[in-house]
Amino acid sequence: MFTNGGANQRLKNLSPSPTLRIKELCRQLQTQGKKICDLGLGQSPFPAPNFLVKELRKNAHRVEYLPAPGLSSLRRAVAEFFNQRQNLDLTENNIVIGPGSKELLFLLQLANGGITILSTPSWVSYQPQAKIANKKIYYLKTDFSRSWKIQPKDLEQIPSSRKTNFLILNYPHNPSGLTYSQTELRALAQIARRRKIIIVADEIYGEFHHQGKHCSIARFYPEGTIIISGLSKWGSAGGWRLGTAAFPPQLEQLKNTVIALGTNTYSCAATPIQYAATQAFQNPEMKTYLQHTRRILQKLGSECFTILNQAGIKVHPPQGGFYLYLDFSPFKKQLSKKGIKTNQQLCSRLLKETGVVIIAGEEFLSHKNELVARLAYVDFDGKRALAASRHLGLNRSLPADFSQHYCRRTLEGCQKIKHWIENL
Ligand SMILES: Cc1ncc(COP(=O)(O)O)c(C=O)c1O
Repeated sequence: MFTNGGANQRLKNLSPSPTLRIKELCRQLQTQGKKICDLGLGQSPFPAPNFLVKELRKNAHRVEYLPAPGLSSLRRAVAEFFNQRQNLDLTENNIVIGPGSKELLFLLQLANGGITILSTPSWVSYQPQAKIANKKIYYLKTDFSRSWKIQPKDLEQIPSSRKTNFLILNYPHNPSGLTYSQTELRALAQIARRRKIIIVADEIYGEFHHQGKHCSIARFYPEGTIIISGLSKWGSAGGWRLGTAAFPPQLEQLKNTVIALGTNTYSCAATPIQYAATQAFQNPEMKTYLQHTRRILQKLGSECFTILNQAGIKVHPPQGGFYLYLDFSPFKKQLSKKGIKTNQQLCSRLLKETGVVIIAGEEFLSHKNELVARLAYVDFDGKRALAASRHLGLNRSLPADFSQHYCRRTLEGCQKIKHWIENL
């Protein structure tokens, strides 16, 4: 009755975010009584810090709209946060607040006139966002042997253009859990500067660097880097929808276009959330919270790595965030005999035969025949683990059996994958 069912044909191939689709599949299997170990969804396992929740309660009565770029005190706190950590020279005027970094990343793609450069594998939403914004994409493929990272020579290959292109550089990286060293960032910055490529540094996992030593490429290329962050990962408040973008003064026009797009679409990020978020960027208690959450993730991540590595799966020791990107190619022959030729088939069979969810590499733009998948080591009670770490105190390190006690489900999931592989 309605042409194309009322939908825009150009967008007909867009599908719901694959990670959310997996969540739905798990829910279905669970209602059928199947025990699921969910190493699929990339969400912080920890509760949001208490002082943030208190601040949100205190500000719940605020119902007014805020200026489109965001609350002044929050923008000042964000600028100061990056200045201290990354030795930058930002002011409130350089900061834009949005309802989640995802939205800001999308508006950035829309606002920029050039090509979007993506390294693959990459986070699930950059490519669909580029398609919605009708942008050309230039892919830089990486692989296991290069630790899933791009190299300066990759940037040299990008065709010259009259427009200003931008590279989305995400580190610590989703899906690999790896990050760039200062030397690597400096080398990339040098080429980006020469080739006038804007870098959108997606540093949403920055404060979850396992050693607390996250370094932004903005240190080496301040005039051409936009830093993206927010509360969703290290603030453990994904559902609060609070993202930040820090623009250099040289990209004022791009910033103003993003603000104009924001004003005409979401108006502002939720007011009480912005008041509460100010504390995340300036309250000293955040430091302690992060020291606890990081050390839990670091310990668990390295234990998951050890189990899977012992099974013969190709995987790197994680450096930040909560992901491992598993490469099952050493088992190609055995998997093929079971009829498993693609990463989607691999994940479906693993789920059916073990109840463990991991996400197929195809969702992260790896080729469907590459036997790769992302594991998120977050299936545990973060509230309990955090309380135990706090109880112990920061002057004592976590005991050897900490993850066994507090993150057992995740370790069991890794053991199940190991067992499955060993019995192919
Ligand atoms: C690499 C990366 N960037 C951005 C986001 C979006 O985060 P949010 O919109 O919740 O701030 C995510 C969420 O999973 C992510 O993994």
